[in-house]
Amino acid sequence: MFITIEGMDGSGKSTQAKQLAEYLRDKFGAEKIVLTREPGGTEIGEQIRAVIHSLQNQEMSSVTEFLLYNAARAQVVAQVIRPALAQGKIVLCDRYADSTLAYQGYGRQLDLDMVTRVIHYATGGLTPDVTFYIDISIEEGLARRNHGHARGEELNRMDTQTREFYERVRRGYETLMAQEPTRWVRVNGAREIGAVQNEMRGTLEAILKTNAG
Ligand code: ADP
Ligand code: TYD
Repeated sequence: MFITIEGMDGSGKSTQAKQLAEYLRDKFGAEKIVLTREPGGTEIGEQIRAVIHSLQNQEMSSVTEFLLYNAARAQVVAQVIRPALAQGKIVLCDRYADSTLAYQGYGRQLDLDMVTRVIHYATGGLTPDVTFYIDISIEEGLARRNHGHARGEELNRMDTQTREFYERVRRGYETLMAQEPTRWVRVNGAREIGAVQNEMRGTLEAILKTNAG
C-alpha cells in the first residue's frame, strides 16, 4: 500500500508522517513499513534537494526546479518505493507527485499537461492508494514555519515565495482534491498534533479493513 501526505508548508506533514509510521510499525512490524520523503529519500535525491532548496540558487528557473523535483522523484520511486511495494510493504511518503502539480503546475503556472506527462515519466505511472491532505491556512502554516525557523529548523528557497504563489498552490490542491475525491482524505490540520494523528489513524484503519475484506 502506498500512502502519501500532502499540504502547505508548515501544515504538519513531517510530524504526522513520523507518528503514523511509528503506529504502523507497532501494528505490522518495523520491517513492513517504509517512511520516505520528497524531495529526497535517497542519497542522490538528498543531493538534488540541496540544490533545489539552496537559498543561494535564487536565479533557478521554474523549469529547472520542476525537472529537479522530478529527477529526485524518479530516483526514490526506482530505488525505494517500487522495491518496497513489490515486497508487500506499506510505503509512507511525505510529499509526492501532487506537490509538483500544486507548486510547479498551479504555483509556478507551468503547463499542466506537460507537468502531468513528466510526472508520469518520472514515476512510471505509480500513483498513491491514499493521499492525506493536512488542511491549514496559509497564515497558520507560515506562522508555524517562522516559529520553527526561530528554533533552528531549515529555511529553504521554497519558503521565500510570495503570498500569491502560496494562494495558487492552495487553490491547486483544492482542484486536485475535487478531481479525485476518492483518493484524497482531507484532515483539519489546525488542531493539536495528537488530534490530527488520531483522525489519520482512524481513517487508515478503516481503509485497511476495507482492503482486507
Ligand atoms: P511540514 O512537514 O508540513 O512542513 P512540520 O511537521 O515540519 O510540517 O511542522 C512545522 C512546524 O509546526 C514544526 O515546528 C512543528 O513542530 C509544528 N507543528 C506541527 N504540527 C503542529 C500542530 N498540530 N500544532 C502546532 N504546531 C505544529
Ligand atoms: P520541506 O522542507 O520538505 O517542506 P515541508 O516541510 O513543507 O514539506 O521542503 C519541501 C518544499 O519543496 C516545499 O516548499 C514544497 C516544495 N516542493 C515543490 O515545490 N515541488 C515538489 O514536487 C515537492 C516534492 C516539493
